[in-house]
Amino acid sequence: MEAPLTLRQSRHLEAAERTADRWWRDAVIYQVYVRSFADGNGDGVGDLLGIRTRLPYLHSLGVDALWITPFYESPMADGGYDVADYRAVDPSFGTLGDIDALVREAHALGLRVIVDIVPNHTSDRHAWFREALAAEPGSAARDRYMFRPGRGTDGELPPNDWESVFGGAAWTRERPDSGEWYLHLFAPEQPDLNWHNAEVRAEFLDILTFWLRLGVDGFRVDVAHGMFKDPALADIGRSGQIALLGSEALPYFDRDEVHEVYREWRALLDSFDGDRIGVAEAWVPSAERLARYLRGDELHQAFNFHYLSADFEAGALREVVDATVAGLAPVDAPATWVLSNHDVTRHVTRYGGGALGLARARAAALLMLALPGSAYIYQGDELGLPEVTDLPDEVLQDPQWERSGHTERGRDGCRVPIPWGGQEPPFGFGAPGSSDTWLPMPASWRDLTVEAQAGDPDSTLSLYRRALRLRRELAALGDRTTLRWLDAPEGCLVFARGTGFVCAVNTSDAAVRLPAYGDVLLASGPVDVEDGALVLAAATAVWCSVPHP
Ligand code: NOJ
Repeated sequence: MEAPLTLRQSRHLEAAERTADRWWRDAVIYQVYVRSFADGNGDGVGDLLGIRTRLPYLHSLGVDALWITPFYESPMADGGYDVADYRAVDPSFGTLGDIDALVREAHALGLRVIVDIVPNHTSDRHAWFREALAAEPGSAARDRYMFRPGRGTDGELPPNDWESVFGGAAWTRERPDSGEWYLHLFAPEQPDLNWHNAEVRAEFLDILTFWLRLGVDGFRVDVAHGMFKDPALADIGRSGQIALLGSEALPYFDRDEVHEVYREWRALLDSFDGDRIGVAEAWVPSAERLARYLRGDELHQAFNFHYLSADFEAGALREVVDATVAGLAPVDAPATWVLSNHDVTRHVTRYGGGALGLARARAAALLMLALPGSAYIYQGDELGLPEVTDLPDEVLQDPQWERSGHTERGRDGCRVPIPWGGQEPPFGFGAPGSSDTWLPMPASWRDLTVEAQAGDPDSTLSLYRRALRLRRELAALGDRTTLRWLDAPEGCLVFARGTGFVCAVNTSDAAVRLPAYGDVLLASGPVDVEDGALVLAAATAVWCSVPHP
């Protein structure tokens, strides 16, 4: 590391002073999935050096911040969401010096940096879990996790019927035929921590402090609705519990106690200069439940998974936009809009794939970036990348594939490395001439590379660049004005922001005629102005500037 940590905070302050306060209220935040973004050392796996070399790309794209998924020391049982040491960088991703340099270089370009924090569980290789396994039942070391005796005559049955999000039981016995069971809501390599234990709480405050001192601008909180479990550990009494996630109350998610922790974290964030933030990854049943994470003394933002899950259909989209805005109003938190991430099928494919899926995805981007609040872009969204649906079985790495007994292929299809340039895999990712990337890249991506799209004014990359530039320039966008719905024919959404801006989206599969609201600033597909009407092709969105009366 090039300078002592004590200098970081003052450097951070300089960066913060360059941009407005409360930057997060309308920031566009770009999600970097480390393993797949850019490969700096040519081993076929993305890393911190790769991200550093691509910071100018992110800067010219026009985003405000990047969120980097876990790069901490990890055996990678769940792509880094199984952390063995929260204060160390995994050697496959680089060093502490690399993250330190990355944060400074990003700040110099005016980009904020958010990192992941994984508090619900550690890796089974974490020093605490090894210590727990070596200790006796009832010991202090075991109390940091959720160890319980089994049921049945010989303790051979799990303590209750809870299921892992990745499939199978949420409990694993410490030895095949004996000993206690431990809880893991995800993979067995991800034992759940006991958040009733004071040492656990203190340790995470210390970890957050470590990264805040290094200069990060905030944390994306993994499984923010997790951590506390109903102490009764009672049976749920039904299987298929994963299907209830985000729609019904479960005894291990969204419990009141978790909010005390966020109050502590908020006080810590506020004690640092420069508007540091917390972002909740919380799958909860309603906008009202989500708002609880965003009360003035808790976290700043939460991912809007109800928006992500909505079909590309005017009625469904309008409903979720209204519910979002109404749900957040009482806590005065900004909405967030997100279409994809490293856990879900890419939206080009969700929206139907092929030319139609891409047209809808482009329109969805203009819609998302015109809505009030903050927006998240998942790496590759700006290239219109589809899900890779034909990865061979033998390359699949997501634990869901094994845990589901090979019935769920898991999330690898949205995690394929980013194509940067060239005519064939690895498209500028990994060592030149070697197609050995951690997941194989489809040869058909030759037309989707950054290089191929950069000079094409009609490309998806150019659309994102223009939209992001306009979003900064137009006084009505971001978080600066509220949204006002205008009359729209069936299948269309039309809304105004402020007095000078209208966004119209045609989600139907036929062209529509709309009033000509003003000059067309940007369109995701074919638009015409005919006889004073705006003719919007199927699956197309447009931004218009409206002349002042
Ligand atoms: C949510 C993360 O986004 C996902 O990738 C991970 O598998 C789980 N949390 C468990 O940490």
